[in-house]
Amino acid sequence: MVVVEIRSSEHVGTARKQVQARAMAVGLSTLEITKFVTAASELARNVLIHGGGGTMTVHDVQRDGKAGLQLDFEDQGPGIADVTLALRDGYTTANSLGLGLGGAKRLVHDFEIVSHDGSGTHIRITQWKRR
Ligand SMILES: Nc1ncnc2c1ncn2[C@@H]1O[C@H](COP(=O)(O)OP(=O)(O)OP(=O)(O)O)[C@@H](O)[C@H]1O
Ligand SMILES: [Mg+2]
Repeated sequence: MVVVEIRSSEHVGTARKQVQARAMAVGLSTLEITKFVTAASELARNVLIHGGGGTMTVHDVQRDGKAGLQLDFEDQGPGIADVTLALRDGYTTANSLGLGLGGAKRLVHDFEIVSHDGSGTHIRITQWKRR
């Protein structure tokens, strides 16, 4: 398990590199790695911009004999009141493109918003190795 602090845009780069390295170690395909790193980058940016900073935790996981890589993005920001709305392409509260969250969801195998109760945000994504 590795925890990466996300407090600056430099840290978003650190998070990207960490995910790339761990995904290669798990043995994900090049395509799955590219997708996962892109999703991680968007979620890390959201932690920084919308959540006021936080952490990314990287875990190796196993399910039904399958290996995978799981990332938890956690911040203590305002949280996401309406998750369905936030996932919609083009929805943004930051005058940006509003593509990060929905794009990230489409790029990964599992996508879960674990908490959204006004006391921060926790998003968990997982990419599985093909057997
Ligand atoms: N960690 C977070 N904490 C609070 N709100 C969030 C968080 N992540 C996303 N959101 C909310 O969901 C909206 C949509 O996120 P999304 O990443 O799709 O778009 P964006 O960050 O505004 O723009 P883009 O990612 O395209 O530059 C954000 O504008 C913000 O209101
Ligand atoms: Mg975003």
